[in-house]
Amino acid sequence: MAGFLPWRSEQAVFAAGRWAYVLESETMRRLGICPGSFDPPTLGHVDVIERAARLFDEVIVAVGVNNSKRPLLSTEQRLAAVKAATAHLPNVRADSFSGLLVEYAASQNAGAIVRGLRATADFEYEFQMAMVNRRLSDKLETVFLMTKWEHSYLSSSIVREVALLGGDYRGMVHPAVADIVAAALSST
Ligand code: PNS
Repeated sequence: MAGFLPWRSEQAVFAAGRWAYVLESETMRRLGICPGSFDPPTLGHVDVIERAARLFDEVIVAVGVNNSKRPLLSTEQRLAAVKAATAHLPNVRADSFSGLLVEYAASQNAGAIVRGLRATADFEYEFQMAMVNRRLSDKLETVFLMTKWEHSYLSSSIVREVALLGGDYRGMVHPAVADIVAAALSST
């Protein structure tokens, strides 16, 4: 019949289309990026990364390098800390980036940025950052995940302050991260 392919050709086109669909859905891995300063990564960060690892096929924890800030931990120490704290998560890897987050995300073919929210106080800063990132790249979504209640008071700056003043911060971070913080403190 005019306009139609012979039966066998139609079957072949259908099979090829189905195969392409299966191939695409198997090769299109959902990649999420958890960006942050991680100076140091806290148990709250780890909790959010664990949640992201359940939602995405692959997660990159991206340590931001900001030359205008003077962090307690060097980029290498922050990377080592993130790696140690997430070593139990097989689909999570750590990397560092400088410049715009949206450009880094595009370079990795990531579909989403994942950020943790502890309380309403975080919302304004996070909302602003999400809006700026959306303005810069409409293809990238920002997803917010709530931390566990028991980690809702934790922040990197609290850990740094307690550590610098000689307090006990060991329950606030992964043990390997605590050792990295202790080493950084002893060399300052
Ligand atoms: O843990 P932090 O300090 O809240 O993380 C902030 C970070 C690193 C995610 C943010 O400063 C960032 O994305 N920096 C990269 C520069 C950028 O893209 N700026 C535009 C969006 S605000």
